[in-house]
Amino acid sequence: MNIFNFVHNSPKDEFEDWEIISQVAGDSLLVSRILRSLTASGIFSVTSTGTYKPDAVIKDLAQGGYLESRILMNFDIHFQIYAKLPQYLNQTKYASPSNAYAGPFQSILNTDQHYFDWMESHPIQLDAFNRTMQAGAMRDNSARWTQIFPITEKLKIFESQMACTDKGLQFVDIGGGIGHEIKVLLDSIPSLRGHFVLQDVSSVIQVILPELSRSTDIRSVQAMAYNFFEPQPVVGADFYFLGRVLHDWPDSQARTILQHIRDAMDEDSVLLIHDRVLPDFASNVHPTDAIMDLNMMILFSSLERTEKQFRALLSSVGLKLVNVWRSPTAGVHRQAVLEAIRA
Ligand SMILES: C[S@@+](CC[C@H](N)C(=O)[O-])C[C@H]1O[C@@H](n2cnc3c(N)ncnc32)[C@H](O)[C@@H]1O
Repeated sequence: MNIFNFVHNSPKDEFEDWEIISQVAGDSLLVSRILRSLTASGIFSVTSTGTYKPDAVIKDLAQGGYLESRILMNFDIHFQIYAKLPQYLNQTKYASPSNAYAGPFQSILNTDQHYFDWMESHPIQLDAFNRTMQAGAMRDNSARWTQIFPITEKLKIFESQMACTDKGLQFVDIGGGIGHEIKVLLDSIPSLRGHFVLQDVSSVIQVILPELSRSTDIRSVQAMAYNFFEPQPVVGADFYFLGRVLHDWPDSQARTILQHIRDAMDEDSVLLIHDRVLPDFASNVHPTDAIMDLNMMILFSSLERTEKQFRALLSSVGLKLVNVWRSPTAGVHRQAVLEAIRA
């Protein structure tokens, strides 16, 4: 209907109801009813003179905003699946979905493609997905991964080793999306120098290339189209980083991804996994994390893992979990950084 775009793009900060009604799609009764509902939810307040005053959240709801991308994802994908999930689970005799290529997503959206393959032919949803991921990594209410993992201290060790070898830091972000996790690293440590590789599927790399070419940061990021089910081409890097990748995949595929990283690591390489780590007891689980686990189930037949599940997964491919870093200031996203080395 364009209510959020109209209000956000207007220089005014208060509106008569007729101003909104005359500028947006929909007849006056429908627009008034929607405005009433938006007021009841706190998105507008009504002043003593009867004008509508938008809350600051309007910018996130307008086109290109964080909530707009979430709403689009929810209506186009998530709600469609949840609406038919009871029927799907009944038909599959209440088996926990575990096949990445034949689960609720494929059955209910009537496709034989994996979510990420389906995205390649759905650019609007892919754009919304990338923006959602970017917001998850960079919004004020979630801890940056560099605030959870003591990156500065760890890098001091590398710096002293690198001083003797002339070799810059090598950092590989696997399934890095449009580069927001690497940006978090570069923003956190302005003096950091090295070789930063951003790997993702070709359709995502194509999206990021124009932005990288416009970047004025002298620390260049190399974007590389790479399928993480194939052998890792960057061998012996200091850090391999997997941000919110493993929760997209059930154990069978997660093991293949990890095995390729394990094969590329040398004895000094460190694998960092930035993901939610669920507590063992249900009473300690944050509601956002519980919902995210179900989202992983309906979209990918996958799961959010506990520390015990991560430890077993890593050990099954010859990796050793040496630390789970958690932040007391993690905000609504209860994410952790797991640190692993070759066993
Ligand atoms: C949940 S997103 C996480 C993005 C980013 N790491 C973050 O933390 O925001 C998962 C990423 O994995 C990428 N991906 C999916 N399948 C892939 C594959 N076979 N090879 C490489 N990347 C893949 C997706 O395109 C997506 O960008």
